[in-house]
Amino acid sequence: ASDIGAPCAPWQHQSQFIPIRHDMNRRQFLASVSAAAVLPLPGFAGQTPLKLKAETVSQQILPEGEGTTAMLGFNGSMPGPEIRLKRGARASIEVENGLEEGTAVHWHGIRLENRMDGVPVLTQDLINPGDSKTYSFVPPDAGTYWYHSHYISQEQVARGLMGPLIVEDDAPLDLDHDITVILSDWIIDEDGSLVDEFTDMHSVAHAGYMGNFARGFLSRSEVQQGDRIRLRLINAATNRIFPLSISGVSGSVVALDGMALRQPRAASDLVLAPAQRADLIVDVTGPVGFDMPTRQEPYRLAELSISGENTDRQSGPPPTLAAPDLPAPGAPSQHLTLTMMGGAMGGRHGGANIWSFNDVSDLPDAPFAAIERGETVRITFVNDTAFPHGIHLHGHHFYELAADDSLGDLRDTTLVAAGESRDVLCVFDNPGRWLIHCHMLSHAIGGMRTWVEVT
Ligand code: C2O
Ligand code: CU
Repeated sequence: ASDIGAPCAPWQHQSQFIPIRHDMNRRQFLASVSAAAVLPLPGFAGQTPLKLKAETVSQQILPEGEGTTAMLGFNGSMPGPEIRLKRGARASIEVENGLEEGTAVHWHGIRLENRMDGVPVLTQDLINPGDSKTYSFVPPDAGTYWYHSHYISQEQVARGLMGPLIVEDDAPLDLDHDITVILSDWIIDEDGSLVDEFTDMHSVAHAGYMGNFARGFLSRSEVQQGDRIRLRLINAATNRIFPLSISGVSGSVVALDGMALRQPRAASDLVLAPAQRADLIVDVTGPVGFDMPTRQEPYRLAELSISGENTDRQSGPPPTLAAPDLPAPGAPSQHLTLTMMGGAMGGRHGGANIWSFNDVSDLPDAPFAAIERGETVRITFVNDTAFPHGIHLHGHHFYELAADDSLGDLRDTTLVAAGESRDVLCVFDNPGRWLIHCHMLSHAIGGMRTWVEVT
């Protein structure tokens, strides 16, 4: 049995029918710890506001020595620079649009003011080419988040408009390194060019745009044997679920979707749906490998090499994260059901588009639910389709409920296997218009999105 809250077999099934170029993977393995594997340094020193410019970039995605890839990025790089914020302190981030089309940036998982949520039409106008918008918010929770385009996101995120967003702990933990690992996948030709299949109807109706090449970008390339490190894993892929196995470390998962777990748990069977995050605190026992199990050999996504040994590190219990500070759920005053419908295989109908919630595709004019600020709401997500879906609620975290209704993990994105359902409990304490959508971004554009209004 998995202790991450979901059986891993269905996700492994997903990676079985998704081709990955194993030959390229081997070359990546040989070319590992190339400069290209390292995330750009923040480089924001002293800037107020922080400046992010969306623009075209040329990135080494394939192993060093192979072709570069024309993509989108921020400040010249893909992924965009790591943003580090202080919990409880106002952050201002100016986004300049250097693209030839509109854009908007969503700060995924941050419980922020609705008008800063970055959702075109629902919460803001598009940032037009040449224009800028300053986002300003106070991040209430320390943890691992990310930012990404929320405009034609199945394409703009796939092209590279995303990056890590870290809200630092109030007091630094006793660790040797804090390392971000952001994962994604892309369809790339032999010459390095990105294949424009972002709205391919066949993939939209199935598991979504799925890369033939996947990799992680790390904020650091080396550690010492014996180091105690924090790993912040972010799945920034548009559609791929990453089952992960991490070698060369011993330790545990301490947070999911930014929120500290009540009890650390084993890192075996770790599964990240698109947009999900996991934080681990581990001791380094050897070269660290991040692998995705597949039906063939494991696929290496990233690695950390060893340089020397840390002999100063005292063993002892790992540091603990501050508990999340969210309102406690009361008795639910509404019970909503959102049934995922549509898609290929099984011939189920699904609204006017390819996918739907409750037979309604795309954003309805009226909210799916009207909720009074502070209400606790139970939502049952029913997956009546042949594919897994990772459902994301904006502006809030919710508790996954166990079979006996006890409170499970706090999440902002929950993975629901085909044919299964998940109950969650959410205290809607954040006023505004909030999206709920599948974070398989091909499914979102295919219709699987709705919204609620909290007043
Ligand atoms: Cu991370 Cu509506 O998205
Ligand atoms: Cu989906």
